[in-house]
Amino acid sequence: MPSSDARSGADLDPVTRHTRSRRDLEQGIEQDFGQNLSYGAYLDLPTLLSAQHPRATPPQHDELLFIIQHQTTELWLRLVIHELTSARALLAADDHRQALKRIARVKHIQASMTEQWSVLATLTPSEYAQFRAFLATGSGFQSWQYRAVEFMLGNKNAGMLPVFAHDEEQHAELERLLHEPSLYDEVLAWLARRGHPIPQEVLDRDVSQPYEAHEGVVAALSRIYADPQEHWAEYETAEELVDLEDNFQVWRFRHLKTVERIIGSKRGSGGSSGVPFLRRALELTFFPELYDVRSAIQDVTPEGYHGGDGRG
Ligand code: HEM
Repeated sequence: MPSSDARSGADLDPVTRHTRSRRDLEQGIEQDFGQNLSYGAYLDLPTLLSAQHPRATPPQHDELLFIIQHQTTELWLRLVIHELTSARALLAADDHRQALKRIARVKHIQASMTEQWSVLATLTPSEYAQFRAFLATGSGFQSWQYRAVEFMLGNKNAGMLPVFAHDEEQHAELERLLHEPSLYDEVLAWLARRGHPIPQEVLDRDVSQPYEAHEGVVAALSRIYADPQEHWAEYETAEELVDLEDNFQVWRFRHLKTVERIIGSKRGSGGSSGVPFLRRALELTFFPELYDVRSAIQDVTPEGYHGGDGRG
């Protein structure tokens, strides 16, 4: 029984009542797009929304999820390439502050890309099995934008190029990126210009080759990490790179675990062993010395402290 001072719904003011099912349009709201630029036209939505072509016969409900998950990832990768291209150029021009702004955005994009694996994880193995055969040999392994990002960050691997030989434009683009300095190459050159002793052979390296860790770079980074206050710009930039790598690995890990729950130990549609092949990517690194330097950092021991054995 309601208490005597309880108000009926009709007495509540309009803000607290949840009875509205309609919002009146305001006078200034544009409605005539015969001449004016519309949302859909600006974004070219007709092209975007007509680019989903499920192939399964009979049609399978879940194939649209599979297509859109890939397409949204490719859209985000397009933006990542855009931001990294700019970050590299800004570093080359000694504008590390703006470069860090670009990297900050990439980190948020990565977080979004990683979070969206949970959408695909709603696809069960039996649902996927209904349309998997229709992908034939198609696989994310053939994503040229993904390779472009790997190359730009520093995982140069000329062995990836033949996969793109069928598409002249993509092949040329990857070939170009293979021969350009990676973000890491640019950071090391920037450190050198700021007076840090990066070995000349590292600065002169053939940037199309996989990067190899160098003790001299660990030594230069050790000086920075030993005194962050003194070298804040370098320290902050280095830690931003570690965030990028960390995020990249988390994406790879979530991909692997999603793949594992959907296809188990089946081979990949692109022809690899599947999960074991993906697992090996978790051992890759973009910025090896940024991890090596961590082991070189001396633990601080308060005066008079004799405990501990240096582990953990
Ligand atoms: C049911 C969902 C998925 C399955 C079962 C799957 C499976 C696989 C497998 C087995 C590989 C290894 C190459 C091969 O043999 O095909 C691979 C690679 C790859 N996939 Fe997926 N994938 C799925 C979804 C996605 C999505 C949504 C993306 C986003 C674009 C993606 C991106 C990639 C990339 C970039 C690679 C290359 C990774 C590397 O070189 O280490 N995959 N995928």
